[in-house]
Amino acid sequence: MTPSFPLVPERAATAAGEVDALFLFILAVTGLFAAGVWIAMLFFAVRYRRRSPDERPREIEGALALELVWTIVPLVLMVAMFVWGAKIYFHLNRPPDDAMTVTVVGKRWMWKLQQPTGQREINELHVPKGRAVRLVITSEDAIHSFFVPAFRIKKDAVPGRYNVAWFRATKPGRYHLFCAEYCGTEHARMGGWVIVMEPEAYETWLAGGPPAESPVAAGEKLFTELNCITCHRPDSAGRGPVLAGVFGRQVRLASGETVVADEAYVRESIVNPAAKVVAGYQPVMPTFQGQVSEEQLISLVAYIQSLQAAEGAPASAGSLPR
Ligand code: CUA
Repeated sequence: MTPSFPLVPERAATAAGEVDALFLFILAVTGLFAAGVWIAMLFFAVRYRRRSPDERPREIEGALALELVWTIVPLVLMVAMFVWGAKIYFHLNRPPDDAMTVTVVGKRWMWKLQQPTGQREINELHVPKGRAVRLVITSEDAIHSFFVPAFRIKKDAVPGRYNVAWFRATKPGRYHLFCAEYCGTEHARMGGWVIVMEPEAYETWLAGGPPAESPVAAGEKLFTELNCITCHRPDSAGRGPVLAGVFGRQVRLASGETVVADEAYVRESIVNPAAKVVAGYQPVMPTFQGQVSEEQLISLVAYIQSLQAAEGAPASAGSLPR
């Protein structure tokens, strides 16, 4: 791996080494097997070639030891790949609790990103070194895919869904960010940079921009502006369910089913309120489809998540910006 001819992308996040180790293991195993098959094939072709037109080979009745070896050895290798891969998969999909949340919205043909403190960026993301960054990824049109090779993360941005990815950058620098899902004519140009900074430099950068509004504060404002507050009152006298403390909990629906009030459920309840009506309430809420942008939906979800029940309900795991 010389700098002039790199075989793998730069490693700039904690997961990169693990992903590469597994990749190289799989490459080595499959490479050795491919070489073994080719060498055996060439050897047998020469060794057992037909020497005369009437030659008849000796009958072979099977070889138990050989059959056991070629079954058990690949089985052990495959199970090792599976277990190792599953371990990395779970690691990549479970952000640590102390992660800062950045929201990512894909749009033809740009990436819109928002810091936990509210600063917005387009096709650029500034992050501090050493800190876990949780990405909540969605799209407002086609399916895109958020791909940072140096961090070994790639996650689809799907309309109407919140997908989560995370990384912990290890080296200051600028790292290429791509869209990795064909999304239209300008797909190839839908990219940008992740800029990893020393923590102090990042704080300075954050403080340098125009004053920003956190998603929770923006959501609270919208909650009033859109008159959500008229029905979703803090007491139980409203026409809609009380929202404090609901996030992360089980909700009983009019249909008799229960769902967990996660980001996707809250989002669906805003754009398609009739889909899952809470038990004991009438389906009177109007849809807000088309009236609120994806960023505004993220703010509303963040605000609803921030509402804690009066008696101090436990904070839920796996959540949007605080
Ligand atoms: Cu967005 Cu390809």
